[in-house]
Amino acid sequence: MQQEEVVLKLRNVTKKIGNRRIVDDLSFDVPAGEVFGFLGPNGAGKTTTIRMIVGLISMTQGEIAVKGISVRKQFELAMTHIGAIVENPEMYKFLTGYQNLVHFARRHSGVTKERIEEVIKLVGLQNRIHEKVKRYSLGMRQRLGVAQALLHRPSVLILDEPTNGLDPAGIRELRDYLRKLSREEGIAVIVSSHLLSEMELMCDRVAIIQAGKLIDVRSLQETADEAKPYKIAIDVNDPRRAYELVSASFQNANVSLQGNRLELVTDRARIPDIARLLVNAELDIYGIHATQKSLEDQFLEMTGGEMVV
Ligand SMILES: Nc1ncnc2c1ncn2[C@@H]1O[C@H](COP(=O)(O)OP(=O)(O)OP(=O)(O)O)[C@@H](O)[C@H]1O
Ligand SMILES: [Mg+2]
Repeated sequence: MQQEEVVLKLRNVTKKIGNRRIVDDLSFDVPAGEVFGFLGPNGAGKTTTIRMIVGLISMTQGEIAVKGISVRKQFELAMTHIGAIVENPEMYKFLTGYQNLVHFARRHSGVTKERIEEVIKLVGLQNRIHEKVKRYSLGMRQRLGVAQALLHRPSVLILDEPTNGLDPAGIRELRDYLRKLSREEGIAVIVSSHLLSEMELMCDRVAIIQAGKLIDVRSLQETADEAKPYKIAIDVNDPRRAYELVSASFQNANVSLQGNRLELVTDRARIPDIARLLVNAELDIYGIHATQKSLEDQFLEMTGGEMVV
């Protein structure tokens, strides 16, 4: 299936500037048809990573492959599979949207008139394409930029902070057509943002990046309730003893004492085991309170509270 073909592969990608590791050992894969997000606070290294993928800057170490083609070794060929908007897309304001597309089409071989019509439809600019770009709203310019990036039928579309400056309706439209591109055209779409709320709306998975490092790659679509961790608070007659028992048996559960309550984080299936452990040790339980942590809580924890949500 097309869904499983990896179209972008990063391995140990590192960028050093001076003594600083701006991007530090990033590795991940993006399959065809996925909307994949780079999520991280300002300065995390999102733009730097994108610039390395599209070859605007060199890597200090590591490998990037687009459809199996090395960006380092076969740059030109690798780039035929990438469409990107990094920073502001260049546009000729005094030309129409259509004239801009015709102009940019000349940069690639084999972009037909039909293809130009096709990308215009894909981004929904049919009705305004013959107007001058200076009359376009920000959202329309954004779409024209995406249309331009799609002209040569790339397998990977990369957009750095595409929602910047868009209103909620604009963000919604962007989301809808990026999803359409990924589902219908099988394109892998990579977007960056510092806003979790936007990423949740747009992406299948996100890579969480902080201070140049990959903290985690998460799926956002299959957040089945069962799979999400629970935060458990237990009201028990001897919290200290309970703490000793539970922390010995449940490592990685982040067990702590909060006043007279024992707190920990675990999945739902283990709650009865914990209760049993305490009861078998003849402790008296007065209450077990389980709450699910929101994705937002999880992100905040992972990034030490620096995430802008
Ligand atoms: N040419 C450069 N020289 C020195 N430092 C740089 C250079 N380019 C980027 N940096 C630093 O690298 C870090 C990562 O920058 P980058 O632009 O990749 O972050 P970002 O995640 O895109 O942030 P933002 O959300 O603000 O766009 C920052 O600390 C930045 O100052
Ligand atoms: Mg950036």
